[in-house]
Amino acid sequence: MTTHRLEASPLWPARLDHIRYDSPDAARLADFYGRTMGMAVSTLGPAEFLLEAPSRTIVVGQAGAAAHPYSAFALADGRQLETYRAFLKERGVTLLPSPTPLFGSDAFAVRDPDDRLAVFGTRTRPAAAAATPGNVAGDLPGMLQHVVVASSRFAAMLAFYTDTLGFMLSDTVHKDSGPEAGQVNVCFLRSDEMHHSFAVFQAPQSRADHHAYETTGWNDLKLWADHFGTLEIPIWWGPGRHGAGNNLFFMIKDPDGNNIEISAELETMAKGQPGKKWMGARRATNLWGEPWIRDTAAASS
Ligand SMILES: [Fe+2]
Repeated sequence: MTTHRLEASPLWPARLDHIRYDSPDAARLADFYGRTMGMAVSTLGPAEFLLEAPSRTIVVGQAGAAAHPYSAFALADGRQLETYRAFLKERGVTLLPSPTPLFGSDAFAVRDPDDRLAVFGTRTRPAAAAATPGNVAGDLPGMLQHVVVASSRFAAMLAFYTDTLGFMLSDTVHKDSGPEAGQVNVCFLRSDEMHHSFAVFQAPQSRADHHAYETTGWNDLKLWADHFGTLEIPIWWGPGRHGAGNNLFFMIKDPDGNNIEISAELETMAKGQPGKKWMGARRATNLWGEPWIRDTAAASS
């Protein structure tokens, strides 16, 4: 029986620094994030693009199919990183080379049960300090803040990220009916005081779910929605307010079908503070309206 840690591990504090999306048309995806998210586009290698604006960075790579191969979390400094490395070694975790060119040489990666890498390091390549001139969205507030995956190996993912990697458990969602009523099928995990930097939704297939940009308030959602409207990119979910995390949100899709969330008012939680338990995903995912149910086997949640 696992306890899913509620005490702070050496991972605390860490924040999501960047993610990588692979695409069968990386140039098209990079162009989309450049125009839509106000990010400057540059090349890191022959089949790798860097997209960045102040407070948000993603890497786009060329591959046979759309994928989310890694999420990269930045720790405070090299000393914390070494402490965390020792913490993982004590747990028998296999440490792998870091795949990202944005972190220092002391960065490392671990492979999770869904075969996705979680990368830990410190940022050595400077983040974009100013928006690209002429890029209308470049000045809109939107800090890359969390990334979420859907998983068919939910229990293993929950155990790995909490008990092994030391993420702190925030809210959980529980099936509210059927033979598995009461079982957890969504977990929100934090690595600093923001309610979640990572989350896992149980689903029939493991895949990317979404990533989110945290803004400074409700008015920013209007500015982003107006910007997307100018580009004729429709909102497909929201606006609404998540129950878990209490944040205002809406979502759009990129050309590969990846979900992009614009968020505001994400709640903060202290170290060790227990999260809420939600019965069913309906109100946990949207207090205002239509939910987004990933676990289609959970009858009414
Ligand atoms: Fe989210």
